[in-house]
Amino acid sequence: MAKYRIAWLPGDGVGKDVTDAARIVLDDLGVDAEYIHGDIGWEFWCTEGDPLPQRTLDMMAETDCAFFGAITSKGKDVADKELAPELQDKGYSYRSPIVRMRQLLDLYVCLRPCKAYPGNPLNYKDGIDLVVFRENTQGMYIGVEYARVPEGFYAVKGTEKLPRDAAISFRAITPGGSERIVRSAFDYAVKHNRKKVTAVHKANVLRQTDGVFMEAARKVAADYPGIDFDNANIDAMGMWLLKNPFNYDVIVTTNLFGDIISDLCAQMVGGLGFGCSGNIGKDYAVFEPTHGSAPKYAGQYKVNPIATILAAKMMLDWLGETDKATQLEEAVAAVIAEGKVRTYDMGGESSTLELARAIADKL
Ligand code: IPM
Ligand code: MG
Repeated sequence: MAKYRIAWLPGDGVGKDVTDAARIVLDDLGVDAEYIHGDIGWEFWCTEGDPLPQRTLDMMAETDCAFFGAITSKGKDVADKELAPELQDKGYSYRSPIVRMRQLLDLYVCLRPCKAYPGNPLNYKDGIDLVVFRENTQGMYIGVEYARVPEGFYAVKGTEKLPRDAAISFRAITPGGSERIVRSAFDYAVKHNRKKVTAVHKANVLRQTDGVFMEAARKVAADYPGIDFDNANIDAMGMWLLKNPFNYDVIVTTNLFGDIISDLCAQMVGGLGFGCSGNIGKDYAVFEPTHGSAPKYAGQYKVNPIATILAAKMMLDWLGETDKATQLEEAVAAVIAEGKVRTYDMGGESSTLELARAIADKL
């Protein structure tokens, strides 16, 4: 029996292209794993009314962790139209499977390292090395939304002037949820010899929810006197990050701000072709590239697989296969530095799998 059982979830769009690429390097690394395919993605929404079928969740429950490619999400109108005729008007509503996995499995850390590998022509500045900790289960992602002001809402003080046709989305932040994400960021800083943690918020406007987040952050920071702690408003942070990315090290923030800031950080190190994610809970994790499914490139084996290959590196670290993880990162760095094999985003003409092969050849 293999040492690890890994749920293999390519999804749709370019999800298959990039996970195929990751398998090339994982196989060449000799990872002792069994990969178990799971159905997930747009087609299962259309045919079954669920892009993340229960059988996939059941299979995942029997694995050590999961590796996920990408999934197409479309707006409500299109989603409803593409649902099989026999399923229409039966109350099915589309919800992003990755968001569901994060919440169902309590994968509360979204870890997104953004490193400018030397020689990457797409680096905004050489030497950038940021790590984003995004709270992954709460905030604006709780899915409590109303198309119109819900019944009883006007009983809440301050809502009197709200027009009846206002759509409402709730944001929820708990002290416990905040403490555990901030603590993860500090523990990471200690373990990886990082100097500073910056908490990002909008506490001057979102006074309650970000008030809770910042109170928890300050409390946790006091337990780590060896690590600098500061904070910034999300808007200013967008500006400061571009102006001086070297002032930052580990960034910790709530769900939606983390979504936004991690794309910004990814762009500074080459774009979404380089952004990798770990969705990590107490004893399960799902690794994925940060990018979406880019349906127009699906099956063309054209997109950059490095984000996904770096997600595989994160998975190896999490599994405790640190030597293999380091080997893999060094191979990625070497191929980037050499600059001979590049996908279109980097100005080259190599395919997804050629780039993966080049990385595997360096192992
Ligand atoms: C991400 C993505 C997802 C998110 C989408 C696909 C729902 O943008 O992982 O950053 O918003 O979290
Ligand atoms: Mg995002």
